[in-house]
Amino acid sequence: MYKSKIIGMGYSVPENIISNNDLSKIMDTSDDWIQSRSGIKERRWATNDVSTSDLALEASRAAIKNSKINSSDIDMIIVGTLSSDYFFPGVSAQLQEKLNLKTIGAFDIKAACSAFIYSVSIADQFIKTGAANTVLVVGAETQTKLIEKSTKGRDVAVLFGDGAGAALLSRSNSESSILSTHLHSDGKHLKSLWMEAPGTSKDSWVNGSIDLSKFTPKMNGREVFRNAVTRFPEVINEALDANDLDINDIKFIVPHQANYRISEAIAKKLNIKMDKVISNIHKYGNTTAASIPIALAEALESNKISKGDIIILAAFGAGFTWASAAIRW
Ligand code: COA
Repeated sequence: MYKSKIIGMGYSVPENIISNNDLSKIMDTSDDWIQSRSGIKERRWATNDVSTSDLALEASRAAIKNSKINSSDIDMIIVGTLSSDYFFPGVSAQLQEKLNLKTIGAFDIKAACSAFIYSVSIADQFIKTGAANTVLVVGAETQTKLIEKSTKGRDVAVLFGDGAGAALLSRSNSESSILSTHLHSDGKHLKSLWMEAPGTSKDSWVNGSIDLSKFTPKMNGREVFRNAVTRFPEVINEALDANDLDINDIKFIVPHQANYRISEAIAKKLNIKMDKVISNIHKYGNTTAASIPIALAEALESNKISKGDIIILAAFGAGFTWASAAIRW
């Protein structure tokens, strides 16, 4: 078996900054409510002319540049997203064309906030077996186009933002590598965080037409919170156990940026200080599949992570799905 490692990362966020005060002008909410419940100060909303594939393309180009490879070396594309430009096909096929690549394999992964780690795990398996050498893995979203931007949808609307992050994974001949990945799901919580339409379920349709009231994400915030604060530490501990590591061996936890209070609860359960937990939620909100690669790319950009450091990526989201990846840099 071979090993894989991340050789370069990049990210892209829309220019359009929406502050909490901006939101309070279009719905009944306040800066104080949002900050105290989530830690979010502002987020980016893609304008109509910017779609998920545009952000994915910019992030991918930055990752290709940072990894110093030729884009022709890429032999697979995996995109984690729940807000693809079209219902089908996926953003991955658009990237293949926009990056001017050969007719390589390309597919999307719909595992919501866990999609980036799911995609990293798949890329890792392909590289380990020798079936692929260099895989472009992207998490990209413009989901705020789907949210209900009114008081009715405020519980969801204030939390989410848009963006994209990309990683290039390639075969490793050194200690630097993906050490392990662990993926989980529990479908009984499907309706705690979901968007019902457009879909093929009979429930999405009324008299032969899509029920437009179901064409927006819905969330049971308390249920999500309760499960997240259990599953995050659980899957991080799973990564530690699998690699015979102690939490003190870990330089950083890079959690999916769901909510600052969830990150604080993770730190408390793992008995670590918040300076070990990467957080940028105050700037971007929850960018679903994009949040981990953006946070990781920013941490690399500011030289927080050095060669030899061990970090753990961890995610939780709709499905419910949850996952972790332990990485030696
Ligand atoms: N602004 C102002 N008030 C709001 C609001 C908003 N944006 N959203 C909801 N409220 C109101 C509610 O209507 C409720 O009013 P009521 O008491 O009159 O009925 C009140 O605030 C309290 O709502 P509640 O749901 O009890 O708040 P909470 O403390 O549970 O916080 C969340 C709500 C969503 C912030 C919290 O449950 C959470 O963070 N959940 C996890 C969400 C998440 O991370 N999702 C993504 C996972 S990938």
